[in-house]
Amino acid sequence: MTPYYEDETVALYHGDMREVLPALNLQADLVVADPPYAETSLAWDRWPDGWPALAATAASSMWCFGSMRMFLQQRDDFADWKLSQDIIWEKHNGSGFAADRFKRVHEIATHWYRGDWRDVHHEAPRERGNPTKRTGVAVRATTPHTGKIAPNQYVDDGTRILRSVQRVRSMHGRSLHPTEKPLGILAPLITYACPPDGLVVDPFAGSGSTLDAARQSGRRAVGIEADEKYCEAAARRLSALVLDIA
Ligand SMILES: C[S@@+](CC[C@H](N)C(=O)[O-])C[C@H]1O[C@@H](n2cnc3c(N)ncnc32)[C@H](O)[C@@H]1O
Repeated sequence: MTPYYEDETVALYHGDMREVLPALNLQADLVVADPPYAETSLAWDRWPDGWPALAATAASSMWCFGSMRMFLQQRDDFADWKLSQDIIWEKHNGSGFAADRFKRVHEIATHWYRGDWRDVHHEAPRERGNPTKRTGVAVRATTPHTGKIAPNQYVDDGTRILRSVQRVRSMHGRSLHPTEKPLGILAPLITYACPPDGLVVDPFAGSGSTLDAARQSGRRAVGIEADEKYCEAAARRLSALVLDIA
């Protein structure tokens, strides 16, 4: 298959993921999926039946964006996957689809895996902690059942594991795609679940945000997008970032 866009690190294919993904026959480290939630009247917003099973042929680890309604409605489609956790992306503003509900300012990203958890790459990203709370090197003592005092030396390096609620500005007003995910929410998901230099697959690539985030995180990526106008937007975005300005 000929990619719509390709550079040394990422490739983007135009087509229906239900045809393109099997044809590519990829063995990737991670799928990052932002599927159609099937909650709007947008032409592309239709759930492609069976896509999670196809994704399971490409990787044993997957982040999937969605809403609670979507995950409940489509739960049978995730039968090949085990759920490890969910995180909340809190936006600075949200979509006001219904005036009779709370203003929706978040999306959910769920992490799924197959096989043994120990075989799945997972490395919790860390951020600098609150410096005012830092007390230097902390020692956390454990109370061993043996009664022996064997303190577990815990060195506080000033970093903390990222929280499961992440506040990241949405792309509102500067997006290439109506549901574009910002790099700030994608980067920690990718670094958590894909080893450095590993391969990420995004079967619903939209504006190419996952490919962009993967490349910036030192990972390789393959994307698939059914709508040519988004392929074009993604290709422009990705090629702009590799222009040789020397
Ligand atoms: C929620 S959007 C993804 C947005 C993307 N994460 C971004 O940040 O720009 C879902 C995308 O999936 C595409 N799509 C829908 N059905 C598809 C299919 N069967 N195969 C491939 N792409 C599909 C739509 O055209 C749409 O661009």
